Amino acid sequence: MIPSLLDLPWLAVLSALSTGLLPTAMASGNTIQNTDPLIYFHGRWDSSPGTWWGGSGFKLNVKNFESLSLNLGPHTTVPNTSVGVSFDYGEFITANISEGSNTVPIPAGLKKGAQESTVVRVNVEGWQNNRMNLESIVLNEGATLAPYKPSDLVFQFIGDSLSAGQFLPKGVDQAWPFVLGEAFKAEHVVIAQPGAALSDIVSFGNEHGVSFQFFRTEDTGYFYTTDHNFTTPWNFARDKPAATHVVIHIGANDAAQNVTDAQFVEVYTNFITRLRTIYEHQPIFVFTPWGWPNPDGTFGQYFEGQYQKIVDSKHADGDENIFLVNTTGWVTFADVFPANQHPTVLGHQHIATKFQAWLENWGLKPESRWATPA
Ligand SMILES: *[C@@H]1O[C@H](CO)[C@@H](O)[C@H](O)[C@H]1NC(C)=O
Ligand SMILES: *[C@@H]1O[C@H](CO)[C@@H](O)[C@H](O)[C@H]1NC(C)=O
Ligand SMILES: *[C@@H]1O[C@H](CO)[C@@H](O)[C@H](O)[C@H]1NC(C)=O
Ligand SMILES: *[C@@H]1O[C@H](CO)[C@@H](O)[C@H](O)[C@H]1NC(C)=O
Ligand SMILES: *[C@@H]1O[C@H](CO)[C@@H](O)[C@H](O)[C@H]1NC(C)=O
Repeated sequence: MIPSLLDLPWLAVLSALSTGLLPTAMASGNTIQNTDPLIYFHGRWDSSPGTWWGGSGFKLNVKNFESLSLNLGPHTTVPNTSVGVSFDYGEFITANISEGSNTVPIPAGLKKGAQESTVVRVNVEGWQNNRMNLESIVLNEGATLAPYKPSDLVFQFIGDSLSAGQFLPKGVDQAWPFVLGEAFKAEHVVIAQPGAALSDIVSFGNEHGVSFQFFRTEDTGYFYTTDHNFTTPWNFARDKPAATHVVIHIGANDAAQNVTDAQFVEVYTNFITRLRTIYEHQPIFVFTPWGWPNPDGTFGQYFEGQYQKIVDSKHADGDENIFLVNTTGWVTFADVFPANQHPTVLGHQHIATKFQAWLENWGLKPESRWATPA
């Protein structure tokens, strides 16, 4: 048997020496191990620990912050994974990071007094190539971590390419669920897989449907990896705090795979029943499709009337805490890429604006401030 690279640390040392890529920043910094309880992890992380699903990442509340570098392990996407990095709730800026030491650029003018807080947020952007294997975080000498207090409002989004930000330059960081979560100053987790059906069937390269994969740690990309070709149950107790609002927008790929109306209603209804074992009392929002907009103003529709049936059947069973979100007219041809009819960056912002208005009308207001002040 050939020993794995993990068994041969000297090899890594030799290659680091030969390429001159010694992690010099580590010498003078304050190294935070990945087990530090003051790192606030969100989204789905495996035990390495490494991310799956776009949007997964971590948040830090740092006193006396000056510099940041990330030491990543061998399960990180090769040659790199794109992460969005935000300081003090500012714009997420993309950094491409790789196995080894990565110095993250800090915007000018961020320096503050030693007792002041800087909130640092980092998350993977992509629905694929999204594995960040975090070994340690190196801050400047003298920087210390304080607790990051999460928002009281926590969105769990569930979907496909239309929620994952496929085709967007910054991936999920520009997709409507993320944009909405930010607008509400909320925590937000997006479990969305392009090409996946809700039905547990093979669809556009996804080995499983979302009704299976939602309950797993890994996204469906696990199937295409040689270092992690398996999938593990997700321990929902790790979602801290638990979601307060659950939003589902799915069905396009079931339709593309010719799942019938009756089958779709059954799979969706059973999925909500299973979600209720985790989210016992939370409101669940069921999006109707906005359809595939055509240049002539018409829309490609699917499962017309079926989402209403799903919600009605839950109400009939006594679960009144399920709400149909009628997204008809939310997306026009001007909001999508003509080549694939997926929303553009501006299209996603329009959807977030529409859903914010819908939620405010329903009775949910954005938080007035982030729970961890910056
Ligand atoms: C990141 O990887 C992509 C290929 O996926 C490559 O085009 C790009 O140059 C890499 N960037 C960095 C900073 O390594
Ligand atoms: C990051 O890599 C992607 C390709 O994976 C590339 O399109 C993008 O321009 C890179 N961004 C930066 C900031 O290097
Ligand atoms: C992962 O395992 C499945 C069988 O369980 C196999 O079909 C697939 O080719 C494997 N993927 C890789 C990248 O080895
Ligand atoms: C779905 O049905 C259409 C029309 O009958 C057919 O052309 C298409 O190949 C089918 N697709 C799949 C994935 O079965
Ligand atoms: C959704 O809204 C459209 C346009 O306002 C309306 O025609 C349609 O009947 C509504 N659908 C449902 C299920 O309420």
